[in-house]
Amino acid sequence: MLLNNYERLKKSIKYRDLEVLYSCKANNNIDILKVLKEEGSGLDVVSPFEALLGVKLGFQKDKILFTGNNVSNEEMKFLKELGILINIDSISQLKRYGIMFPGTDISIRINPGIGYGHHEYAKTGGLTKFGIYLNEIEAAKEYVMKYNLRIRGIHIHIGSGILQTDPYISALNILLKIANEFKDLEFIDLGGGLGIPYRPGEEKFDLGDFGEKVSSILEDFSRKHGHVKLRIEPGRYIVGSCGVLLVRVVSIKDVSLNGKRKIFIGVDSGMNHLIRPSLYGSYHEIIDVTKASDEKEIVADIVGNICETGDFLALDRPMPKVEEGDVLAVMDAGAYGYSMSSNYNLRPRPAEIFVDGSTAKVSRRRETFEDLLSTFAV
Ligand code: LLP
Repeated sequence: MLLNNYERLKKSIKYRDLEVLYSCKANNNIDILKVLKEEGSGLDVVSPFEALLGVKLGFQKDKILFTGNNVSNEEMKFLKELGILINIDSISQLKRYGIMFPGTDISIRINPGIGYGHHEYAKTGGLTKFGIYLNEIEAAKEYVMKYNLRIRGIHIHIGSGILQTDPYISALNILLKIANEFKDLEFIDLGGGLGIPYRPGEEKFDLGDFGEKVSSILEDFSRKHGHVKLRIEPGRYIVGSCGVLLVRVVSIKDVSLNGKRKIFIGVDSGMNHLIRPSLYGSYHEIIDVTKASDEKEIVADIVGNICETGDFLALDRPMPKVEEGDVLAVMDAGAYGYSMSSNYNLRPRPAEIFVDGSTAKVSRRRETFEDLLSTFAV
């Protein structure tokens, strides 16, 4: 499924010079990274350690782009020493970068003034903390001149969980208008954000339409202004559907208050392992794999074992008649699942199992009490 998603996306864009930089914040499972590296993928990284992991795994350095936010001078020094191109996110960062590394290469993240996404928190264009705003471009150019910097690429990332092509086309057109103002650009980076359906029957991202429109716009641009490479930074689209969170039903509570009945299916996991339902109200399909039945006999909240009322994996969800001991599969947990998990309530993270056809291996073992204690100054 992983390779399938990656290949499908790559093939959909016919533009001759395309580079896919997998956005490893979605899932940094080492076996996934190895597969994608073998396929020739680059990496979109957002922290120094993501960059370091990429380098250690042997990703080509010139295919790794660092797009940080509120980046410190120490972080920039670390990345420069590692040999990674920095995608500048603000005028402040540009100024500090220029003073520290005059005469070197950069890329610039532009905020095109429009943002899209599955939730307000997932929009990154518009009035958000990200990127250099359109009305800051003149100031940016002055710093670029002053410090003799070379802009190798310009970049946008308008948000995450986008299911339509139009937002990309609008943003790309804004970006390309600006591209005319820069000389000798090596790449145009369209960011990531391509959504996947989480609900049964939900619309799919129309990859064919996206690929065709983006390709034809880029070809037209290249003809008029000279050749540029196209980069995209998908995360969710590649790994979202590949991951399943397996949880066990520990305790069922069937209660009523003021005439209202409620069934709580309590599991041995929760917002500490998959925070998306609690944080964004996101929907993940949940299947009782023990019962393996499609029949919906009850409506229940599927809740975790964390001491928070907002700790749930699903609310008011039609389910088969789940029993204690059943294993539930929380679907499409491959993106922003483990990578957003925490040790809240001093609970360990689960193991990550990498399944390849009929073989399975442990990619990351389950955390132990000793792991959690290892950073304590005892
Ligand atoms: N490039 C940049 C600069 C990004 O900030 C992101 C995601 C991506 C690429 C990849 O986006 P994707 O293709 O995966 O949508 N935690 C949220 C999503 C936050 C995305 C953050 N940036 C969620 O669970 O929906």
